[in-house]
Amino acid sequence: MSDLPKQPLENTYWRKDAAMPAFDSLSESITVDVAIIGGGISGLTTAYLLSQEGKKVALLEADRLCEGTTGHTTAKITAQHGAIYDEFVNHLGVGGAKTYYEANQRAVDFVRELVEEHNIPCQFEMEDAYLYATTDQGVEKLRKEKEAYEALDIPHEWHESIPLNIQVKAALSMKNQAQFHPLKYMAFLANEIVKNGGKIFEHTVALDVNHDAKPTILTKNGFPVTASSIVAASHFPFIDKGGLYFSRMKADRSYIISGVTQESWPGGMYLHVDRPSRSIRACTNEEGETTILIGGEHHKAGQGGDTRSYYEALESYAKAHFDSFELTYEWSAQDLQTLDKVPYIGRLSPVHTDLFVATGYRKWGMTGGTNAAIILANVIAHGSDKYEDIFLPSRIHADPSIRHFLKENLNVAAELIKGKVSPDEQSIESLRNGEGAAVHYDGQKAGACRTSAGELYIVDTTCTHMGCEVGWNKADQTWDCPCHGSRFSYSGDVIEGPAKKPLTLLSPKKSS
Ligand code: FES
Repeated sequence: MSDLPKQPLENTYWRKDAAMPAFDSLSESITVDVAIIGGGISGLTTAYLLSQEGKKVALLEADRLCEGTTGHTTAKITAQHGAIYDEFVNHLGVGGAKTYYEANQRAVDFVRELVEEHNIPCQFEMEDAYLYATTDQGVEKLRKEKEAYEALDIPHEWHESIPLNIQVKAALSMKNQAQFHPLKYMAFLANEIVKNGGKIFEHTVALDVNHDAKPTILTKNGFPVTASSIVAASHFPFIDKGGLYFSRMKADRSYIISGVTQESWPGGMYLHVDRPSRSIRACTNEEGETTILIGGEHHKAGQGGDTRSYYEALESYAKAHFDSFELTYEWSAQDLQTLDKVPYIGRLSPVHTDLFVATGYRKWGMTGGTNAAIILANVIAHGSDKYEDIFLPSRIHADPSIRHFLKENLNVAAELIKGKVSPDEQSIESLRNGEGAAVHYDGQKAGACRTSAGELYIVDTTCTHMGCEVGWNKADQTWDCPCHGSRFSYSGDVIEGPAKKPLTLLSPKKSS
């Protein structure tokens, strides 16, 4: 039943020459100091840091390590998160914006120091990060950003051009940033956690947290994990406990392609500040082969229409700007953004002081996840972190625009209604192998997919989170929810929350 992929990591450039260590699933009840849910960069770094502190840690991953967003990144390690600092100075003040920069630059420095100390072979390179503009509005945005860099003492440089075959009107670089091969770095962290006595369990799905006495994670395997502290580092917060995270975040999907080119690479990491968004970097492997990665083309999760078209747009951009570009891999990623663009890192809520959350890094998960891990490890092991306040999930100062909140939720309401009333159905018989669509089945609206082997799967398309209608994602071959970004495999299994339960499989019926 698995001949259609659920975004296999093998489809990304990173998997080509890196293997993550494999771990067994949980097979007994355990008690630890800290249990961490989620095997991406946030979870692994938190587990690594706390195991270094002598804490007994257990990390639970529902699938394989780094199968989620961490494995689908462009892997820039930078505090330059788009042209964000002018906005942050306005919303958070100079002090708040400076804290955001310093916390993220601390994360960049942490990765560099760890790589240098242990000589981690992860293709780590220091690079300057460039924002480039191709329109007058973009230049204006860069000028304001430059003023913010000056106010915040961020090392930078103004440029009239960039060393790529792209006509720009101006560019602004941030100094002392970096890039690496994420899986090679993460494999090091996983091995160190084990050396420090920590436990890692793959294929171990956390179902719920029982908070009556000591916090306990209930797992699908049937074995509970009891811990003094629990960290939800599972991209979308696995536990909510009244935090209403689904209504305070929006999910975006974006696309990445990689390819080889005959051009020599001048160095640097690049980000277009105008539309369409483009994020460009290169990596050179041990054999000296240079691959260019280009990301962009984002849309609200589940509302992308023909998702193949995004890959095609990136490929034609690559061919226009890089000589003899030859496509090697293409993949997509789902990113979560908070209302004010500052991640939620810290205690889940003021009354759940032993439950922690880390989420909402937008497209900057390598730095955001490392920053979250440093903060959480310090709070759990030492009681506080000097940068924690600005990231507190319970903050109220940080919702600068109630209009944004209302707009996102009106969009959810619209999608809820649209999915129920617009049939947009196809006949089951007309489905070709590898295709999925909304269909009419057994007197109800449903979703059908025919696998490449010709097997037919029909699911109830009612999202198990809050009842919106999921739609077929042609490029990734998944069922995606347009409301809060839950994703399901062709047979209905949860790939990404907030939904916790699978879609109901209508056919074939599950044998009991
Ligand atoms: Fe919320 Fe589907 S993710 S209704």
